[in-house]
Amino acid sequence: MYNSKIIGLGHYVPERVVTNDDLSKIMDTSDEWIQERTGIKERRHVKKEGGETTTSMGVKAAKIAIERAGIEKDDIDFIIFATLSPDYYFPGPGVLVQRDLGIKTVGALDVRNQCSGFVYAVSVADQYIKSGMYKNVLVIGSEVHSKGLDMTTRGRGVSVIFGDGAGAAVLSREEDTSKGILSTHLHSEGQHAEELALLAPGMGGRWVNDIVADDNPEDESYYPVMNGQFVFKNAVVRFSEVIMEGLKTNNLQPTDIDMLIPHQANLRISQFIQHKFGLDDSKVYNNIMKYGNTTAASIPIALTEAWEEGKIKDGDLVVLAAFGSGFTWGSVIIRW
Ligand code: ACO
Repeated sequence: MYNSKIIGLGHYVPERVVTNDDLSKIMDTSDEWIQERTGIKERRHVKKEGGETTTSMGVKAAKIAIERAGIEKDDIDFIIFATLSPDYYFPGPGVLVQRDLGIKTVGALDVRNQCSGFVYAVSVADQYIKSGMYKNVLVIGSEVHSKGLDMTTRGRGVSVIFGDGAGAAVLSREEDTSKGILSTHLHSEGQHAEELALLAPGMGGRWVNDIVADDNPEDESYYPVMNGQFVFKNAVVRFSEVIMEGLKTNNLQPTDIDMLIPHQANLRISQFIQHKFGLDDSKVYNNIMKYGNTTAASIPIALTEAWEEGKIKDGDLVVLAAFGSGFTWGSVIIRW
């Protein structure tokens, strides 16, 4: 039996900073409203024309993670890419990373679990490594939201929250089973699928080409919709449950947590969880203020920054937890 261990981390965000004041010039919103409800001060957006893509940002993050892991690209045995904003409708970005990094013809898997995407992807990588099938797995979470949001007052309840960026991790075999990823727990509840969703192109029996052909500006179905309060209420319950599930499985208590990296959905959600578990500020990492919600990229960006800032040390108990569209949620318990 093996465990898996994160041996390299990297992140990349586009240069263009979009502040709350910038948004209030194009829609009816305000810095005060956004900060009070979400904690977000600014986010990154790719350039409108010819900018980065989900894949190109994922590749940049992956290169840093591979270098820090101290391995060569040809040591990668498998690629897992989590995103809700792929470059192409198909194929998914996993194969594009294999091509763009010039990795030999290893398998590439795309994960479609939105804000929980990175947690799901890590869980899959962990199982492949634990089973002995693969030694080194590259896991990427990357998103370009800015091109797909309704940047008018109509879409303000969603569009002020999301940002662009990418994060990556290399997971590798760990022979000491008291170290590395101790457990992962995944859940879903599809009865709430439409509470946070982008319904096109499948909705109403249509497909991508029908929508392009229609080109109807009144059609809102190709913008994301979110029942914010319902999502919020579910998020605080599921975050707590799945963190406790992970801790209990390993006979641990909330007081054992050295660093909690919650998916950056809303600062108020993170604060709720922090208070519920009685954690000091130093034990919860938040960067939603700078980047907004980058869905599948949010945990690997936050984990990379926390590690770069020296806030994660050998032997620490690190907990990753996510909740999002699906609904899906999950946790990862790591002995660093
Ligand atoms: N600026 C100004 N006013 C706004 C904005 C805005 N950007 N957006 C909405 N409003 C208005 C609404 O129109 C409403 O006005 P009304 O009272 O006149 O009708 C009022 O503000 C309150 O709107 P609510 O939607 O009720 O605001 P709420 O307090 O619920 O905050 C928020 C909204 C921030 C989205 C919150 O519900 C939230 O964070 N939900 C959870 C989000 C989340 O966790 N998502 C999961 C991950 S995402 C994923 O998986 C893809």
